[in-house]
Amino acid sequence: MFKQDFPIFQTHPDLVYLDTGASAQKPAVVLETMDSFYRTFYSNVHRGNCEIANQATEAYERARHQVAQFIHADPSEVVFTKSTTESVNLVASSFAETLQPQDEVIVSVSDHHAVFVPFQQACLKRGAVFKVAPVLASGALDLEAFDRLLTKRTKMVAMAHLTNVLGTVQPIKEIIKKAHQKGAMVLVDGAQSVAHLPTDVTELDCDFLAFSGHKLYGPTGIGVLYGKKDALSKLSPYQFGGDMIREVFIDHTTFADIPARFEAGTPPIAEALGLESALTYLQKIGMSAIHQEEMRLTDFLIKRLSELDGVEFLGDPSLKTGIVSFNIKNIHAGDLAFILAKQHICTRVGHHCAMPIHQCYHKEVSLRVSLGVYNDEEDIEKFIFALKKAISFF
Ligand code: ALA
Repeated sequence: MFKQDFPIFQTHPDLVYLDTGASAQKPAVVLETMDSFYRTFYSNVHRGNCEIANQATEAYERARHQVAQFIHADPSEVVFTKSTTESVNLVASSFAETLQPQDEVIVSVSDHHAVFVPFQQACLKRGAVFKVAPVLASGALDLEAFDRLLTKRTKMVAMAHLTNVLGTVQPIKEIIKKAHQKGAMVLVDGAQSVAHLPTDVTELDCDFLAFSGHKLYGPTGIGVLYGKKDALSKLSPYQFGGDMIREVFIDHTTFADIPARFEAGTPPIAEALGLESALTYLQKIGMSAIHQEEMRLTDFLIKRLSELDGVEFLGDPSLKTGIVSFNIKNIHAGDLAFILAKQHICTRVGHHCAMPIHQCYHKEVSLRVSLGVYNDEEDIEKFIFALKKAISFF
């Protein structure tokens, strides 16, 4: 519907882009914002005192306000990182310092490696217990099993709101409530959800939320870590360097307040401005409207896929939001993706950085279709046509 806003589709009129889960295309406004910054007021931030340095600092902090507004947070609770992965690693590695042997961390089997591995490694390092909550065959978190895993020793629950393989929206509010009742903190992986659903951290009551700019139609190289003031204040700095200190002495250093304490070195400035621009673009359309349209298209995609012989969805197709992974019986997904790519259809094939959930479904790989604001029914029809053609080769 919004294809005309994205220059890549003018460069490649035949492109059918169904891989937004991996990374979204960029609207012209994002490219123009970043270009204008580099051309007209490029400077480092929080350092210089010339006019362009002040302008750059103001713009960078304005971007932080915009992110905060987008997720209903306070700007002091928004840390810029380079990616969701870095945001999660920041929490996992700083939090690990407080973990005692026998403390417990829970993730879900459907989580992305960027959540699964940092907490698994933190537990291994500290002799803590790493627990993996199962999902039902539908892809929804097994809440009864989750209840059994939660104990008074659970210190952290880390989980995706919208899973990147199954496309399932997990009952994150309920998960957060249950975890809090046991005194555990919750980190929500919002890498996929923030681009598909309205996000309100105040309503969710999560302690942390991690997400990336590039999946939100912004640039690569910027991520966000939202943390409640209390939660962020409990973390020790993750990286040391310029701009995160208060005072440095020969024998010790004191650190800046949050969020600066977690932003060592020159931050991703142009990327922050690009992200602000992407969020303004999305707000103009409205996240609820985006969600509704993506649900309509997801249903249409599932309907058309279900008409094909041998389709095996990972998880219940009726529970999917913008992301659909499947296999076609007796045909390797890699072969299908290769033939689709030859017809200018971009999908993703593989384990999608989530091997444990593929193991649950006894699959090594799957073919994933993920939707964005530029997709329409015509894209889906072209994809189905190309997929049928690919299937006919086998
Ligand atoms: N995390 C991204 C995906 O799921 C890269 O494709």
